[in-house]
Amino acid sequence: MTEKDTELRVSKIRDGTVIDHVPAGEALHVLAILGIDGSGGESVSLGMNVPSGRMGQKDIVKVEGREMSQAELDVLSLIAPDATVNIVRDYEVAEKTEIEPPEVVVGLLHCPNRHCITNAGEPVETRFEVIEEGVRCAYCETIVREDITDHLAV
Ligand code: CTP
Ligand code: ZN
Repeated sequence: MTEKDTELRVSKIRDGTVIDHVPAGEALHVLAILGIDGSGGESVSLGMNVPSGRMGQKDIVKVEGREMSQAELDVLSLIAPDATVNIVRDYEVAEKTEIEPPEVVVGLLHCPNRHCITNAGEPVETRFEVIEEGVRCAYCETIVREDITDHLAV
């Protein structure tokens, strides 16, 4: 079976976002980044561990009626550096973005250090620098290496 045949398992959407080439097993983290847990009523389709020509297996996430913010794309790039984000309008792919890791991630992640200034009730937005091992808080230098999506502020 070709990649095209298998993709028909997840039907096309009319308007929204298709996040393609997500590493196998990361689809639910992508939903967490988008703040989607089903309670908001969005229509979501997932393909998990579907065959992919270039990745062997991949996940794919399709969300109707929703586009992604730059901050969400920044966090997405940390868990799915090779993802392609397709904006679909009236059934056609209107925009296709290859994502790139940002240098900093502002506002979307919590610092796990409870003594950090960002956890002191001050009006300070979180700020993490993207480094090879993960992300590092710009205020207290705490490094988050794994399970970055556990630290989502949303
Ligand atoms: N897609 C969708 N609904 C649409 C249009 C496209 O779900 N109305 C999905 C396709 O199934 C595909 C992705 O959006 O997973 C990108 O579509 P397209 O650019 O047509 O596919 P490819 O050329 O295979 O993309 P790429 O080169 O990025 O692999
Ligand atoms: Zn901190």
